[in-house]
Amino acid sequence: MLRNQKQISLAFAAMLAGDFWGGAPRAQAEVYSLIANPAEDCSTQINLGWHADLGDTNAVVVYATKSDTAWAHAITVPGKFQRCDIFDGINSKTPAGADWNEAAKFLDYGVTLRGLHPDTQYMYQVEPAPAGQAGETNGAAAPNESAVHYFKTAGATEFSFVWISDIHAYTPLPNRVKNANAVLAAAIQLDPRVDFVFATGDVVAWGGSYSFWKYLFAQPFAKNYLFADVIGNHDWMRRTNGGSSDYFRIAHHNPTNGYAGQEGVCYWFIYGDVLFLTFNNELMRTGPAAEAAAKTWAAGVIEKQKGKYQKIFIAEHYHWFDGQNGRANWYSHWKDFCDKYNVTLALSGHDHIYLRTHPLRNDQVAADGHGTIYLTAPSSDGERGLEAGKLTTNSNKLAFTYSSHEHSNKSEVKTIGCVLVHVSPHAITTKLVYLDENRSVQVADEHVTNLDEK
Ligand SMILES: [Fe+2]
Repeated sequence: MLRNQKQISLAFAAMLAGDFWGGAPRAQAEVYSLIANPAEDCSTQINLGWHADLGDTNAVVVYATKSDTAWAHAITVPGKFQRCDIFDGINSKTPAGADWNEAAKFLDYGVTLRGLHPDTQYMYQVEPAPAGQAGETNGAAAPNESAVHYFKTAGATEFSFVWISDIHAYTPLPNRVKNANAVLAAAIQLDPRVDFVFATGDVVAWGGSYSFWKYLFAQPFAKNYLFADVIGNHDWMRRTNGGSSDYFRIAHHNPTNGYAGQEGVCYWFIYGDVLFLTFNNELMRTGPAAEAAAKTWAAGVIEKQKGKYQKIFIAEHYHWFDGQNGRANWYSHWKDFCDKYNVTLALSGHDHIYLRTHPLRNDQVAADGHGTIYLTAPSSDGERGLEAGKLTTNSNKLAFTYSSHEHSNKSEVKTIGCVLVHVSPHAITTKLVYLDENRSVQVADEHVTNLDEK
């Protein structure tokens, strides 16, 4: 479909070049897994990534402010790509549930948009390169244009994000993604100002199964929002025989500001007055040296970026506390770091139970603004939840837990939740949003932390 004047002229140029009538018809191919990810400074830069068939070497991204409805001031940026076949032949499942080896060889495209206006909504689209542009060679296949996607840059004094986790997108069971979509939509309706979507991992059932990523990034959140994600064990794993962090790296186009070997997997970005740091548990779980490397990197970023942020949020996949009994889990590994660097929020997933602590410092409850609040997002797939239980340990530190109590099977419950986070210079508001057993939207544990308490 021709979008506008600019595109009509592109089509006309292509026609003159013999690409339409009279010339060999171009192969029709696809652009897929198009996603906006953070860049280091989200007020002026955003990363875009997408994938295209192997012959589609000409793709460009066209972007404009959303208010420029005619795309009159649209800017075209050529895509950079490398061939990717790490997903090809992986043992997986079809949507019908049959065993199959994934067929997934593609070009992994990425661009960093720079010089963006702060606090501005943008639209973007991937399309064939304009005639005459480098790479426009006779006979090369041109990808079909993508749908129009959107993101919003940072820069407002206050901002919000929806934080979701543990979707376990799995094509044979589409209700998982439907449930996650439903609770995301409910949260966005509650706070239409939402600037981006944040995830603490396990967004797909098997990271090695490319068709699951493609399916996830065909959902409305990927089209409408900037998406910042943290690698989980499921994102790392193959159906059989271990896993690789490369699946997560290729599925996204994250900043490559992680430490050696973790570029595009662990990363940091600044959105508003918050420095976000994300970690790779699949590496850190290998031992103290791997954990120390992550902390050294994070400490270096915190030091080097000083002055550019007011608050620090850290995020990893594995939960800080066990929501079934309150036992400390990764909290024990990170509490000294969070104390030392005055981390405001520590975000995790994996437990499938929502959990919020009071502000903690020196392993004790602290006043607002004087400690780190540790949170675990609930699961969102309506299927693999764990049931929140009686807190027998750390009950003084833990403020709230939630899960569904409706069972999907003997050991799991039907939790469908996410968390709305609103950040202002002086306060952080978090609220749990969930769908109850009647699929009615519920809000719970709305909590305001006043950061100015001295
Ligand atoms: Fe997990």
